[in-house]
Amino acid sequence: MRAARAARTAAANQQKAGFTVHEQASSRTTASSDSWWASAAIYQLYVRSFADGNGDGIGDLAGVRARLPYLGKLGIDAIWFNPWYPSPMADAGYDISDYRSIDPVFGTLDEADALIGEAHALGIRIIVDIVPNHGSDRHPWFTAALAAGPGSAERSRFWFRPGRGADGALPPNDWQSIFGGPAWTRVTSPDGTPGEWYLHLFAPEQPDYNWSSPEVRQEFEDVLRFWFSRGVDGIRIDSAALLCKDPLLPDVAADAAPGPSHPFSDRDDVHEVYQAWRAIADSFPGRMLIGEVWLPDASRLARYVGPGELNTVFNFPYLDCPWDAPALRRVIGQTLALNAPLGVPATWVLSNHDVDRVVSRYGRPDTSFALDRRPYFHSLPVDLQLGTRRARAAALLTMALPGSVYVYQGEELGLWEVQDIPDELRQDPIWARTGGGDPGRDGARVPLPWSGTEPPLGFSPAGAAAEPWLPQPKDWRELTAAAETANPDSMLRLYREALRIRRAAAAFADTPLSWRDSPDGVLAFDRGEGGDGIRCVANLSAAGVPLAPHAAVLLASGPLDDGLLPPDTTVWLRVGSGGAGPAGRAQPCEQQDQGYR
Ligand code: NOJ
Ligand code: CA
Repeated sequence: MRAARAARTAAANQQKAGFTVHEQASSRTTASSDSWWASAAIYQLYVRSFADGNGDGIGDLAGVRARLPYLGKLGIDAIWFNPWYPSPMADAGYDISDYRSIDPVFGTLDEADALIGEAHALGIRIIVDIVPNHGSDRHPWFTAALAAGPGSAERSRFWFRPGRGADGALPPNDWQSIFGGPAWTRVTSPDGTPGEWYLHLFAPEQPDYNWSSPEVRQEFEDVLRFWFSRGVDGIRIDSAALLCKDPLLPDVAADAAPGPSHPFSDRDDVHEVYQAWRAIADSFPGRMLIGEVWLPDASRLARYVGPGELNTVFNFPYLDCPWDAPALRRVIGQTLALNAPLGVPATWVLSNHDVDRVVSRYGRPDTSFALDRRPYFHSLPVDLQLGTRRARAAALLTMALPGSVYVYQGEELGLWEVQDIPDELRQDPIWARTGGGDPGRDGARVPLPWSGTEPPLGFSPAGAAAEPWLPQPKDWRELTAAAETANPDSMLRLYREALRIRRAAAAFADTPLSWRDSPDGVLAFDRGEGGDGIRCVANLSAAGVPLAPHAAVLLASGPLDDGLLPPDTTVWLRVGSGGAGPAGRAQPCEQQDQGYR
């Protein structure tokens, strides 16, 4: 944080002194070797849906560059970009055909270099997404494997096997694709006869790499160096627990738990990969690795982080947790207990591009989430007003926790899950591969509303040739960045203020959390001590609760009710009397006005 602050000040001074962004870009530096990620606020940017610079209805790097000042003003420390590489887009870029370039629909490598430099000049770091479990069926390695035939070195980079049964007509084992259907697809030999099968834990267009192959290991290590050398500050690792497979490819028992005896999930040898990657990351100053690891067993999850392993992992138990005080307290406690002994910062995540948006989740009678139960969640009624109120409260609860926080684009605008996308416009392979049984993830990926009152709501420039790649709800006219900037009660203004205080307050720097006694349904904890300390109180109960004596209200997610903290509301309090404010100055009542009015 301190480093981020220093970088921001340095960047501001450089701009005052007349540096141009391109001078910054060409230096390809990162700001410091500090562990900046330990308490950073990281914005997840899904390029396809962020901002369209050239009017083709798809977000691109030109759109991102034009909106960097928005992100600077939001107050984030880093951006995680979902994959931006050349891809046939069978899974929105998670099927990569070239790991060292940019898809033409998004822009060019030169533009990416410029963007990295411009972001750095604003004190914003860059994390890119690497997909090591699988590539694209158009990747030159895979087309070479198809051409080379059975038993070839080219095929050994993937999992090709003959089929079972008469004429090899059955898949080599019973593994199922995470996107639905079998995890195996049969190829056709050059003479037109059916050939071997290849493994894909996701869509058929995403063949799994064979991580027993030294060539595969070498290639990805080079890819890491490629992006670190260009100045990126971190790597997000996709499907990080799935890379290594049992080479015997046995059937998987229906109830097999991830772990050393599972044929493809959380096998022990995957750690060799990350140990090598950590050594590479550490050879560049200030670089980090964050893993996408969905594992139910906390002790297994812990094996992915710490010295010599990944720097952090996403906190999916927190994301999945219902809006329920005991459940949240349990997850928060378990997270801190898991990370602290390893010296690893916690991460806090409310949403991402794979899950339902929080405003909708919290507006349902069941506020939990699970990837494999989306059809059930979409069958529930949604109260958007209630969901928004809870999402505001959850934002302040989350941002008060020690560690880093991830903000998925649009979360800061309070966007909801778009559940009524016409079937013929749905793009997610999950929708097609489950025969429409699972609506998929499109509803969380609808292009952002920036301004105006009619679609494309500023997402594409005026007079754009194409409509946004997914339709935007008309009602999002009230949730545009422009409308919310002008509205002091908006979600955007709440996020900006919360991020500002979070960055400035000494109590939020690297202090531990201490729980306070609180009534049922209420979470209360302190960060920091004495005049600088901040207390966070979140009321998840059905009744208003009195607030203990305090010196000032720094920020509230909703209006207080005659001294009571209403249901589904979170407040940040200055507890010590006459303490210094978030910026280190005395903090009189005016600060109270910056909360909800
Ligand atoms: C996890 C990513 O977040 C998701 O979007 C993607 O479809 C799968 N991994 C496969 O790459
Ligand atoms: Ca575009």
